[in-house]
Amino acid sequence: MNMGNIIDGKALSALVKDEVRSEVQELEARFGRKPCLCVIIVGENPASQVYVRNKVKAAAYTGMDSRLIELPAEISEEELLDRIRELNDDPLVDGILVQLPLPKHINEERVIDTISREKDVDGFHPANVSGLWLGKDCIVPCTPAGIMRLIDSVGVELKGKMAVVVGRSNIVGKPVAKLLLDRHATVVIAHSRTADLGAVTRLADVLVVAVGKAGLVTGEMVKPGAVVIDVGMNRNAEGKLCGDVDFASCEKVASWITPVPGGVGPMTIAMLMKNTIHCFLSRMQA
Ligand code: GUN
Repeated sequence: MNMGNIIDGKALSALVKDEVRSEVQELEARFGRKPCLCVIIVGENPASQVYVRNKVKAAAYTGMDSRLIELPAEISEEELLDRIRELNDDPLVDGILVQLPLPKHINEERVIDTISREKDVDGFHPANVSGLWLGKDCIVPCTPAGIMRLIDSVGVELKGKMAVVVGRSNIVGKPVAKLLLDRHATVVIAHSRTADLGAVTRLADVLVVAVGKAGLVTGEMVKPGAVVIDVGMNRNAEGKLCGDVDFASCEKVASWITPVPGGVGPMTIAMLMKNTIHCFLSRMQA
């Protein structure tokens, strides 16, 4: 087998964004306005600032409208919730994204619950989460949706395969496990406290790693020929961006592997554009 093919998330995300760009033109011709994404950042977390800038840049590329709302770290929870309610009521806003994490004095759950489910482009609202788990129409969270596109891009059949997800967050681990289950994979969710993690990950035909720990998965923990998706976004000692997967050793064993940067990250943003279109259409057709 030809080992170590790299899945180019940047190239795939460019295809998706181009698709969105033509959809935006069609939607504007049909409905007389463009979809509009509103991104809120609270405080000055440098990583969040980069992510948010990239989201707004992607929106501009697709031709959709976007608004960036930068709020001070000291803003009260009630003030933030009021800003969200205003956007919920604004007929020209289709998508609302509040970048996480939030300052400690703000309850993230209350913030997520306040975003109107129709404008919840992140798919974090309880109504969308329940929709995902019950198999109803819903907004699928961006990173899990992007991971599925990456897996599909290499043409691997998921039915009957063993998928191992390392990480159990509400943003990535839990939803991607459900999406893999929907595609008839046998799914194991492992995490930081799993005993003998390597014994579990070695079972995986498809391995998704989303823990936030650099170098957690090494080559001897990967089954030869597996597809490896690295969701990690860590800084190493030199300040370089790296994933949860030790790329050098895993690349030799995997059939396909995503790099960091240039793998999952760009796909998350591309799927955010898709979700904004989805929200726009649901609202226009309601
Ligand atoms: N922080 C890390 N990932 C995400 C995401 O997908 N959406 C939001 N809103 N915040 C994040």
